[in-house]
Amino acid sequence: MSTDDQFRFPDGFLWGAATAAYQIEGAADADGKGPSIWDTFTHTAGKVWHDDTGDVACDSYRRYPEDIAMLQRLGVGSYRFSLSWPRIQPDGRGQANQAGLDYYSRLVDALLDKGITPMVTLYHWDLPQALQDKGGWAARDIAEMFGDFASIAGEALGDRVHRWITLNEPWVVAHVGYRDGRHAPGVADPAQAVAANHHLLLAHGRAVRALRAASPSPAQIGITLNLAVFRATSPQAAALADELDARQNGTYLGPLLRRAYPERLTADFSPAKVDGLVHDGDFDVIATPIDFLGVNFYAPTYVGTRPDGEPRRGEDLSGPHEDPVQPKGMPVTAMNWLVDSTAIYELLTRLRDEAPGLPLYITENGSAWYDYVTPDGTIEDYERIAYLRDHLTAVHQAIADGVNLRGYFAWSLLDNFEWAEGYAKRFGLVFVDFGTQRRILKRSGEFYANVVRANALPAR
Ligand code: FCB
Repeated sequence: MSTDDQFRFPDGFLWGAATAAYQIEGAADADGKGPSIWDTFTHTAGKVWHDDTGDVACDSYRRYPEDIAMLQRLGVGSYRFSLSWPRIQPDGRGQANQAGLDYYSRLVDALLDKGITPMVTLYHWDLPQALQDKGGWAARDIAEMFGDFASIAGEALGDRVHRWITLNEPWVVAHVGYRDGRHAPGVADPAQAVAANHHLLLAHGRAVRALRAASPSPAQIGITLNLAVFRATSPQAAALADELDARQNGTYLGPLLRRAYPERLTADFSPAKVDGLVHDGDFDVIATPIDFLGVNFYAPTYVGTRPDGEPRRGEDLSGPHEDPVQPKGMPVTAMNWLVDSTAIYELLTRLRDEAPGLPLYITENGSAWYDYVTPDGTIEDYERIAYLRDHLTAVHQAIADGVNLRGYFAWSLLDNFEWAEGYAKRFGLVFVDFGTQRRILKRSGEFYANVVRANALPAR
């Protein structure tokens, strides 16, 4: 492949692909696994598109060797996957379920055997149901239990796993899980959402410390945030964009980097919403130094008056949830998410300035499209290739402009269970036929493999 030196990535840049336990594993009650909040949620009628569940998903609990074969075809150096907490602690506390740990141990060994390094997320949304029954993330003692879980994981896998992510997207956990109720556990209560948010941060800090203490070898530990790029579409919307920024970005970057929540949080998003929520010393735990920040990014959010001039719903800053406007004429994915690669550049350069020197990884980036298998047995997903190429070009430019980006993980290795969207939305570089579990590398997977092999974008 001819490559333009202009589009070469730094030596040692880590290319990867990502998944999450509940989205791919299936085997919902195998080998002593306890139920998670997603098991409960998906088995409640009307919560998920088509009432789909993760009971089988991609059956990766059994078919992980096939997944690893696909990672090899992509040629990636790393695989980001998550641990199912209730597989390891069926009730979320107490002694570990050895069979659950053994599964992850086998997976790690099989990856290392092929020269693929694991990047392990401790929590990607599948809370043990037994902990939710005691209040879940809204109850403070969960932080301690999460620390215990981190110790178990570190002791069992830390000899071979050297990169860890504590939490995936605490914003989504707190606000989609406990404020909107569109995700498990399906709670719609602003006070619980604010409490959950603080306890997630506290749990993160505890887990960083627990992993460091438990790991038999040095570990790089970070957290993955879904930071947002808000764009005001009118001068009147600028204040709203700032408020949304404080909610989704400042709420994390503040405590993690500066030991404080942002001041401009309206009542329903402020820690003051819950009496006694923040204890002395909490920020010391939350701001425990991390080795990197994981960034999941898909699309910018435009806020303001609608293009037709109608005032947007929820203009009132204390409103329950933002109601983003969708600019007309811009391409969108099957998720109805905008395709605009300038936003990832904007976010990365902002982080360069806000957290100088902190290593960054893109831990998720990708797009969903209406993929299908052609009569020739191929998946011609040129939209995904275009999205990837544009985003990698923007990422490359960010590195050239001084962003300390160490790696990029495509979301996702496989088509999988896309939460409230069930199996309706396909994000994979690999197509999964959910009827037969057959995996087929998409054209975008071939494109990505070329990028990885060359450590560069192909010349156009
Ligand atoms: C992110 C999630 C990931 C996947 C992508 C599309 O918010 O972390 O599990 O669902 O969105």
